[in-house]
Amino acid sequence: MKDTFLWGGSTSAFQFEGGANEGGKGVSFYDTISRSSKAAADNMESWMGTNKIKDYTVTSDFYHHYEEDIQLMSEMGFKSFRMSVAWTRIYPDGDGNVNPQGIAFYRNVFSLLKKSGIEPVVTLYHWDMPQSLIDRYHGWYGIETVHAFEQYAETCFRAFGEYVKYWLTLNENNMTIMMPGFGTGMKKTKDDPDYDIFKYTVFHNTNIAHFAAVRKCHEIIPDAMIGCMFASALAYPLTSDPEDVLLARNHNQKLNYDYLDLLTRGRYTPKNVFEMKQAGFTVSEEDSKLFSDPKSIIDFISFSYYFSVCTGTEQNAADENAGTVQMMYQAMSNPKLKKSTFGWTIDPTGLRILMNDLYDRYQLPVMIVENGLGVKDDILTEDKEVHDDYRISYLREHIKAVKAAVDEDHVDCLGYLPWGCIDLYSASGDRDKRYGFIYVDYEDAHKRYRKDSFFWYQNVIKTNAEELD
Ligand code: BG6
Repeated sequence: MKDTFLWGGSTSAFQFEGGANEGGKGVSFYDTISRSSKAAADNMESWMGTNKIKDYTVTSDFYHHYEEDIQLMSEMGFKSFRMSVAWTRIYPDGDGNVNPQGIAFYRNVFSLLKKSGIEPVVTLYHWDMPQSLIDRYHGWYGIETVHAFEQYAETCFRAFGEYVKYWLTLNENNMTIMMPGFGTGMKKTKDDPDYDIFKYTVFHNTNIAHFAAVRKCHEIIPDAMIGCMFASALAYPLTSDPEDVLLARNHNQKLNYDYLDLLTRGRYTPKNVFEMKQAGFTVSEEDSKLFSDPKSIIDFISFSYYFSVCTGTEQNAADENAGTVQMMYQAMSNPKLKKSTFGWTIDPTGLRILMNDLYDRYQLPVMIVENGLGVKDDILTEDKEVHDDYRISYLREHIKAVKAAVDEDHVDCLGYLPWGCIDLYSASGDRDKRYGFIYVDYEDAHKRYRKDSFFWYQNVIKTNAEELD
């Protein structure tokens, strides 16, 4: 592993930052849920499944704890920290006037990170769509939102470029093709006659936003690196039946590679173009020009990896995944692999396979910006210890896989930033699903406690993964 390897951790604003009603922040989609809008909560449930979290106002309260948190990260030896900027903290209405307090907050955070030797890795959009853009333009369904995003991205590059050298555009945007309504405030089902055109309009709009931001970043901060962020969905064939192999190939193409081919080649795949045309959607010449501009092409590929799935023609195993994200992929259980208590398959070797596949295919550096084990850590002992050996063992195996990909397979990997390094609210709506090295006591002033994994990861970083036990 290179000495410059970016060991770190990862978060997002709506799950971690809090301070929703402070510092001039505007209202995002998640704040609307917190303010008891049943419509917003229903809309979220319709795209994400059951959501038990009803209030995102404070979450882990990074807004008030950032100095302590950066100190803890520094103690662990972090070289990088991924966070997102809350769009509504910069532009309370999504567009219009900038909020100077928001700029000041992030400048303080980024400058402290830099002083502590930690590279900020910044996501521009991690799902917290400004409510005002939903109300006025249906979020990503309206091209006006894309223009607002371009303005917001440019403001971030100018205000934070001095500190931030690693940028990510839209979190897990390959999922938009499966969940196009998320971020629009619109409820659409596959039975709606205009579903396909709706889906491609939203997906294409998010892609314009992505390409425009990449180009702007390259223009404004020439020494920065900007990447995408995609949710990896590695599928294996359930059996060696060629039909199963074909299904897995198609799954990987549709959910991973269609998106990455677009982002790296600057054009939709021929199959995508055909499907879009069939739905009555055409891409303008102006957009094609933007996409194919070399300045709009990403510098690295970053992704989340939690599990792999199986696809096959036998139908009998599919139900076992009910209630998990894997169900969205209509995937099957892998008889060779165990699952977490939340039903996510545990597959460290899959990470090595994926890193190789990505590097072979695109020859761009990769960065793992999410990975980890979400579990209920309800064992904060009287002496405030959390003995999370299950998390250590999950992370150990995944880090071994990363090391093998780097040292043996020669994949160029920039860093490893496991998810929710300090406990935060789960996106699938369960606050008790924790990922962190640091426990946050939501019931008692958001106090922070070092878990056993904290000390273990500290040593991993110190020894550059030479010592993993
Ligand atoms: C990714 C998201 O999908 O997975 C995160 O980028 C999310 O926002 C993470 O929290 C883990 O999912 P969950 O549902 O366990 O929080």
